[in-house]
Amino acid sequence: MSTSRTIGVALLGLGNVGGGVVKLLAENAEAIEARLGARIEVRAIAVRDPDKANRVVDVDKKLLSTDVDSVIARDDIDLVCELIGGTTEAKRVVLAAISHGKQIVTANKALLAEHGAEVFGAAEAAGVDVYYEAAVCGGVPIIRVLREGLASDRVEALWGIVNGTSNYILSTMTETHGEFAAILADAQRLGYAEADPTLDIGGGDAAHKLAILASLCFGTTVDVSQIPTFGIDSVAPIDLTYAEKFGYVIKPLVIARDHGEAIEARVHPALVPANWLLADVNGAKNAVYVQSYALGPSMYYGAGAGMLPTAMSVVSDIIEIGRNIYARRAGGARPQRPRPVAQRPLLPMADIRSKYYLRFGVVDQPGVLGQLMTVLGAHHVSIEQVVQDTKSKDPVHVVVLTHEAREGDVKQALYVIDKLNVVKGPAQILRIAG
Ligand SMILES: NC(=O)c1ccc[n+]([C@@H]2O[C@H](COP(=O)([O-])OP(=O)(O)OC[C@H]3O[C@@H](n4cnc5c(N)ncnc54)[C@H](OP(=O)(O)O)[C@@H]3O)[C@@H](O)[C@H]2O)c1
Repeated sequence: MSTSRTIGVALLGLGNVGGGVVKLLAENAEAIEARLGARIEVRAIAVRDPDKANRVVDVDKKLLSTDVDSVIARDDIDLVCELIGGTTEAKRVVLAAISHGKQIVTANKALLAEHGAEVFGAAEAAGVDVYYEAAVCGGVPIIRVLREGLASDRVEALWGIVNGTSNYILSTMTETHGEFAAILADAQRLGYAEADPTLDIGGGDAAHKLAILASLCFGTTVDVSQIPTFGIDSVAPIDLTYAEKFGYVIKPLVIARDHGEAIEARVHPALVPANWLLADVNGAKNAVYVQSYALGPSMYYGAGAGMLPTAMSVVSDIIEIGRNIYARRAGGARPQRPRPVAQRPLLPMADIRSKYYLRFGVVDQPGVLGQLMTVLGAHHVSIEQVVQDTKSKDPVHVVVLTHEAREGDVKQALYVIDKLNVVKGPAQILRIAG
C-alpha cells in the first residue's frame, strides 16, 4: 500500500480505454492532484504483447508486464483498473485483485452484467469498492447520477439509447432512407461498428447495460439472460418511413420500469414520439431518460464510447476511490455502501403492456382490412389508426397503430393473422414507447 499521499494504480490493458486513461492522467495531473489532494501514479500496466507497435500512447516500457498475477499482488498497488474486456480472464483477475484487498475500477459491462453478484459479493466481503462508471454509456455519468444524484429519489422508469452502433445505423437509415446492410458496412468502414457486430445490432450489448442500470435503479439483481432482447436488424426502411408519417422516430431502446412486485426490463427498437428528447439523440450518441418520483423527468446525454470520453469516466472513478482510500485512512466510514438487494422477478414479455406498430403485407382485394381488424379485436387489441398504403403493390401494406395492449394478446392475434390466406408473409411488429 502507498504510504505518502499517492495512490498506486495498476492498469490491466493498454488498448483504446487504457491508453486514454494514461493520457488523461498525464495531461490533467495537476488538476487531479489539486482535486484529490493526492497524486495518482500508474505503477504497472499488464498487456498481452509488450512489444506491440503503434499504441495510442507512449509509456515507459519498464511499466509493462505480461504477468497479470504479479501486477495485482504488488504491495505498492492500491487500485486495479480492469480494462482488458471479456468475461473469463477479466473475472479471474478482478476476483484475484479483490482477494488481495485492491480497490477495483472496471469499464467492463459484460463482466458486471453476467457476474456482478459474484464480483460485488466478493468486494463486500473483502471491504473494497468496485466502481464502473464507464461500463454504461461510456462518458455519460449515468451511474453516478443513479447512485448519488438520485440517492434521495425513487426511480420509477427509464428509457435509454445505450448502444452507439445501433443508434448510428438507425439514425443514418432515417436520414438517408438507406438499407440496413449497406449502412452497417459503412459503419464498419468508419470504425463505428465492430468487425463482428452481433452484440451491438442484436441488442446483447444494450442488454448488458440495461441489467446494470436496472439492478442499480431497483435494488435487485437482474439476470441478463432473462431480459427480452430484440435487435435492430428487423427494422426495414419502409418502417422508418411509416413511423415518420405517424409522427415517430425509430430508436434502439432499453426500457426498465418498477412494477412493485416485479421489474420490467426489455431491449428492442421502438417508435419514439418525434417530440420526445430521445428522438433527437442521433449518430453514435447515447442518452438515458429517467422518470423519478421527486425530480420527475431528467435526461443524461453524451458520448457513449471513444477513447477520451470512456477514459474520463474511468479516471473519475479512480479519483473517487482515491477519496475513499483517504477517508478510510482518516478513520471515516466506508463511503460506498453495499448495494441493497431484494430479489424481484422480471415481468414476462407476454405480460408487458405497450402500444404497437403492426405492418401487414396483404393481397389487394376487398374485405382484407375487415379480416385483420376482426382478429385483432377478438384478441383484445384495439386500433388507434390504420393506413392502407394504396401506392404499395404486391403486397399491399396495411399499417396499424394499436392502443395499449398486452404483448401476449398481440402475439396470439398475429399468429392467427399470419395464417390467413390473404396475408403474404409474417407481420412486422414494433413496440411504441410512451
Ligand atoms: N472502447 C470503448 O469506447 C469502450 C467504451 C466503454 C467501455 N469499454 C470497455 O472497456 C474495456 C476495454 O476496451 P478497449 O476498447 O480499451 O479494448 P482494447 O482496445 O481491445 O484493449 C484491450 C487491452 O487489454 C489487453 N489484454 C487483453 N487480454 C489480456 C490479458 N489476458 N492479459 C493482459 N492484457 C490483456 C490488451 O493487450 P495488448 O494491447 O497487448 O493486446 C489491450 O491492451 C472493455 O471491457 C470494453 O467493453 C470500451
